[in-house]
Amino acid sequence: MSRSRGEVDSVFFTGQGEAGIATELPVALTEAVLQRGQQRYNIYCSPCHNYSGNGEGMIVQKGFVQPASFHDERLQAAPVGYFFQVITNGYGRMYSYASRVPPEDRWAIAAYIKTLQYSQDAPVADLPADVRERLEQASTETGAAAQAAPEAVSSAQAEGTAPEGAD
Ligand code: HEC
Repeated sequence: MSRSRGEVDSVFFTGQGEAGIATELPVALTEAVLQRGQQRYNIYCSPCHNYSGNGEGMIVQKGFVQPASFHDERLQAAPVGYFFQVITNGYGRMYSYASRVPPEDRWAIAAYIKTLQYSQDAPVADLPADVRERLEQASTETGAAAQAAPEAVSSAQAEGTAPEGAD
């Protein structure tokens, strides 16, 4: 096929193309993609990164290295392809999830993280209506309690008041 088709495929599998790390998703952003991303994130990433992305998940509470918060300026500024690449290749003491999470799901997770960053930073009222709707719908689907009150969950964990396996 044409070169541009090859370029699209390479971005899809590597998170970067000729122009550098992907700043846009190589797949269409739909509500289904965000919901899939949230579901996969909650399974594979929240144990360390927490539901809110602040890096204070259950395993970290128990003594594992604490990752940077996704709400730090540096990671806020990181393009969506950066998150795809960390899931694919690992990062420092975090190992690769390439064998457990297929590329399509890695993009879904990366898209969800960008949404999570935006939703924590911007007043919900400022979000475009369609994004707000997706977020509201996504948070009623899975992990509703944790999504609605990530701060409450993490402070309960910090104080050791959360029952084992509460999330
Ligand atoms: C077992 C705990 C654990 C799990 C599960 C985990 N991570 Fe990590 N993650 C870490 C740690 C620890 C670091 C920091 C590593 C270091 O600095 O050496 C990290 C770093 C990162 C970074 C880079 C942050 C930076 O500072 O640039 C991103 C992005 C990231 N993780 C995303 C994810 C995603 C997405 C998932 C789910 C697919 C995931 N992680 C699952 C522990 C985890």
